[in-house]
Amino acid sequence: MGSDMAAPESKVIIVGVTGASGAILAQTALRLLAADERVARVHLAVSDAGRRLLDHELGVRGAIGELPGGIVGANAGKGVTAAGKIEALPNADVGASIASGSYPADAMCVIPCSMGMLSAIATGASTDLISRAADVSLKEGRRLVLCIRDTPFSRIHIENMLRAQQAGATIMPAIPSFYHHPKTIDDLVTQYVCRVLGQLGLPQSKQFAWTGQNAGMNAAQDEEHDEVQGLENEMHPSTRKVRSV
Ligand SMILES: Cc1cc2nc3c(=O)[nH]c(=O)nc-3n(C[C@H](O)[C@H](O)[C@H](O)COP(=O)(O)O)c2cc1C
Repeated sequence: MGSDMAAPESKVIIVGVTGASGAILAQTALRLLAADERVARVHLAVSDAGRRLLDHELGVRGAIGELPGGIVGANAGKGVTAAGKIEALPNADVGASIASGSYPADAMCVIPCSMGMLSAIATGASTDLISRAADVSLKEGRRLVLCIRDTPFSRIHIENMLRAQQAGATIMPAIPSFYHHPKTIDDLVTQYVCRVLGQLGLPQSKQFAWTGQNAGMNAAQDEEHDEVQGLENEMHPSTRKVRSV
């Protein structure tokens, strides 16, 4: 099992946040990216509906430049890395660095991803920075992970998923897993976000990995799992006491 911190690199990751429920997914992803020595830079773009969501679900509001610190710092305990490497870009600025394929980004995720944004990406609309950067990711053959969320799916949603997937995107619905015996909301969120980061080319050695039903959760994984959940629980004291999920 490799170490996440052993090999400093200079990955550039784009994170889009749109107006689908699950601001905590974006928050956890940004915290883990900010703490990851393999990541040099994170470019963050938040849609208008995404900003409403951050306000509604995390109580984060303010000027664009204040968003990284606001998101990473919201409900934070000790041990949360500063948001210094996260640069927030105006979503209306379709001329920003990440709007061009010549800008050397490594991977992008939209977390959470609304059905509206899925539609924009599936049709190549490129009318804002998030959909343009996603369009660039696809045309450049870079990893693009769409953390879609809605229930139930309409035929339009499903057709858009298919279209985006066939163009090269990874459709990663915000669906939690339960085989790692989650005890808290943080357990659910962290496992899901670790899977997303793995899809971005940032494998997470501390996420739970299934080794077969009879093997179950082995002792080493159990220990590491508790360790990463401990960090997450520090980060989210408001959810620490939630036990029944
Ligand atoms: C609090 C809140 C939660 C929402 N949750 C969802 C959701 O889970 N999935 C979704 O597709 N749209 C959701 N919406 C609606 C989208 O935000 C809306 O369709 C918006 O136009 C999407 O724009 P965007 O893709 O530019 O962020 C939500 C809106 C609000 C205000």
